[in-house]
Amino acid sequence: MSEATKLYMEEAKRASYGHKLRQMQELALRDPENFWSDIARNLYWFKTWERVLEWNPPFARWFAGGLINASFNCLDVHVKTGNRNKVAIFWEGEPGDRRVLTYLDLWREVCKFSNVLKDLGVKKGDRVAIYMPMVPELPVAMLACARIGAIHSVVFSGFSSEALAVRIRDSGAKILITADGAYRRGRIVQLKKTADEALAKIPSIQNVVVLRRTGSDVEMKEGRDFWWDDLMRENSLNSQAVPLESEHPLYILYTSGTTGRPKGVVHDTGGYLVWLYVTMKWVFDIKPEDIYWCTADIGWVTGHSYVVYGPLLHGATSVMYEGAPDYPAPDRWWEIIERYSVSIFYTTPTAIRMHMRFGEDWARRHDLSSLRLLGTVGEPINPEAWRWYQKVIGGGRCPIVDTWWQTETGGIMISPAPGIELVPLKPGSATLPLPGVHAEVVDESGKPAKPYEKGYLVILGPWPGMLTTLWGDPESYKSIYWSKFGQNNLNFYFDPPAVYYTGDYAMKDDDGYIWLLGRADEVLKVAGHRIGTTEVESALVMHEAVAEAAVTGKPDPVRGETIVAFVTLKPGFNPSDSLRTELIRWVGKTVGPIASPSELYFVSKLPKTRSGKIMRRLLRAVVSNMPLGDMTTLEDETSIKEAMEAVDLLRKAMGMGELESQL
Ligand code: PRX
Repeated sequence: MSEATKLYMEEAKRASYGHKLRQMQELALRDPENFWSDIARNLYWFKTWERVLEWNPPFARWFAGGLINASFNCLDVHVKTGNRNKVAIFWEGEPGDRRVLTYLDLWREVCKFSNVLKDLGVKKGDRVAIYMPMVPELPVAMLACARIGAIHSVVFSGFSSEALAVRIRDSGAKILITADGAYRRGRIVQLKKTADEALAKIPSIQNVVVLRRTGSDVEMKEGRDFWWDDLMRENSLNSQAVPLESEHPLYILYTSGTTGRPKGVVHDTGGYLVWLYVTMKWVFDIKPEDIYWCTADIGWVTGHSYVVYGPLLHGATSVMYEGAPDYPAPDRWWEIIERYSVSIFYTTPTAIRMHMRFGEDWARRHDLSSLRLLGTVGEPINPEAWRWYQKVIGGGRCPIVDTWWQTETGGIMISPAPGIELVPLKPGSATLPLPGVHAEVVDESGKPAKPYEKGYLVILGPWPGMLTTLWGDPESYKSIYWSKFGQNNLNFYFDPPAVYYTGDYAMKDDDGYIWLLGRADEVLKVAGHRIGTTEVESALVMHEAVAEAAVTGKPDPVRGETIVAFVTLKPGFNPSDSLRTELIRWVGKTVGPIASPSELYFVSKLPKTRSGKIMRRLLRAVVSNMPLGDMTTLEDETSIKEAMEAVDLLRKAMGMGELESQL
């Protein structure tokens, strides 16, 4: 028995709760081969794996030798086992239109669309870019790719043409699937037009499939662009799911990091599906009779894992909603919960805080008694919002699962697990790691931090849902995630050992509960969306007037954080309110509206170290009215004085509200 296993067993004996959880944790660690095999056997494999894990740190082959297909596991197994008429998706469009898709309906659409892809020349391993609104055809397109072994790369429909182009170019996709438009807050978002702007910059796309959603007038390029329904009409249902190697990439999903370019996170098929299957059980305690609703957009990882693959693997009934949470009125979500008798509801702290602001009357108008479990994801939840969520939405009777994970982890890692055993909840803590997740908080030198000491959250890898690489860049995969820490005093369960760096600060309390304390790197979390400061800076310096830019985050009571930018101008350009507005709009256009700064300041120089590195930490302190801390490495103190004056001046001149309404 390893040291680590002994430690766990001792801890389990001492604890007054969590025995079952710790027992499973211990089992996962003592005998991973059997532990993961037992779970993986719940899925359908065309050929059973030969080894649960082949581990050449940091490269893992989970369920090596196994053959599996995601689309088959999400659809065919249910269609074949008597669940064919069970509802897979209750869909509601923003304008109020509704659709109900059974597993059979979904299977038919997916089979047909996989034939459309084949006709367009898509083969196993080809990348397919998807840029669509939250309509059932989005999961259909993803599952159709998975059926034939094509790798989907979904790009959030709120991204701009430039952001779309960067992602398509990096993935080398040859097909794009999009829609004529999307509904958002009563308006039509012109998706096809944005896609066309992107395509002008990337000749690799051979064909575009366009779904008719809004009926807007769009340009269709002869020979390149086809309507979804025209192609579907001609196609048959005859499509066998292709047996794929367990490590075959299921998808690429771009996410922000500390560089100006987004990173293409790659997930495999077998390990990822096993992780989703089991976390749906452990965390959401999913049952056949549940009506499950995860409000995430499929353009983000939460949507991939817990709108599409996770629930479908379980043959669950889900709700899917297209539009804004407060359209046409702030009770839209509560109305939907009542209409479909939703029992499990999974959303973000930002959304909860937004609804808190609208007031509880909106929720009180609706019968929410069907709810039995609530979840949150994407950012730390403040205890006040946690309590409101539990009382007003959960009626005081629903546990809240605060789930910590990342695009890279594939699925939930740290969370209460009522499907195993509900431990006492502490508002603001994601509680304990799930079985098989070996999370640790370490100090700068990589040694375990003491209780209540702030440190870096690391995972002593590997785990089945993990990313397998970064698309086209295995070196960065190694250096970004697996190189920061050594193996100081850590107990590893897998040999050879490896430490995965999450980029998050955290601390453990006396009970071993983990408290997430925000990002430790240059990544912001704005309304739960992950935005790299360097991405926004790169966008700003692309503008002709900007010489240099520094971007940081400022705490925000609703959105968690908002973006604040400092810019220096090139000779010949002068600060003005109109230039400020133009630059803010420019970022919105270049990256996407979610990345627009809420405040932008003109300065003559940025605070830098003697070696020329921008000290964003100081700017963060300035915009948040926090103590500046250590300034010894600052080259020129007047730069920080200037930044303070600029912030003071503008904030005095116009309240935040005015600044925002100006846009
Ligand atoms: O900082 C953590 C925060 O979101 C980051 C991951 O972002 P992304 O890859 O976009 O995935 C979001 C959805 C899984 C993490 O590094 N985060 C996520 N969940 C939580 C959280 N912070 C605190 N508490 C959480 N429950």
